Amino acid sequence: MNLREFHSDHPYPETTVAGKNPAYARAMLSNCAGRNSEMSAVALYFYDHIITERDALLSSAFRAIMKVEMVHLELFEKLALHLGADPRLWEAQTVPQPRMNYWSPARLPYATNRKLILQNALAAERAAIAIYERQQKEIQDEGVVNVLRRVLLDEQLHVELFRALLEQPQPS
Ligand SMILES: [Fe+2]
Repeated sequence: MNLREFHSDHPYPETTVAGKNPAYARAMLSNCAGRNSEMSAVALYFYDHIITERDALLSSAFRAIMKVEMVHLELFEKLALHLGADPRLWEAQTVPQPRMNYWSPARLPYATNRKLILQNALAAERAAIAIYERQQKEIQDEGVVNVLRRVLLDEQLHVELFRALLEQPQPS
């Protein structure tokens, strides 16, 4: 496992779409700004980067992975825009009544213990993978699916990175 590689070598696809689609647009907004989203990953890894400052390898890994999540955020917000949504950091809620909910950093899984920090990051990556794999099967727009497929390569790499970091002994 190379702990200095944070994204796949494959190029990122264009964010072209077949046409406007409200359902797909809502899915992309949720990927950007839902409870477990790219914005959540950016914000959590930023905190993790700061809180782990005495563990140089871990701290720099969080900073580098945060930047990759920012690229994903940009791709999904561009898709949301092209699919017809207003690309704010918000997502559509349907129950109890339809409304738009803005993203919030209030409920991120903040932790200060190295093992717990990494376990939370791993759980976030696995949750993202499950969502993107489901969307990849359900969405019938090749442009959207190409982005999902590419982002999945990075998230799978992040799972491997966090697993490798978890197996390392805690620095003294
Ligand atoms: Fe990731």
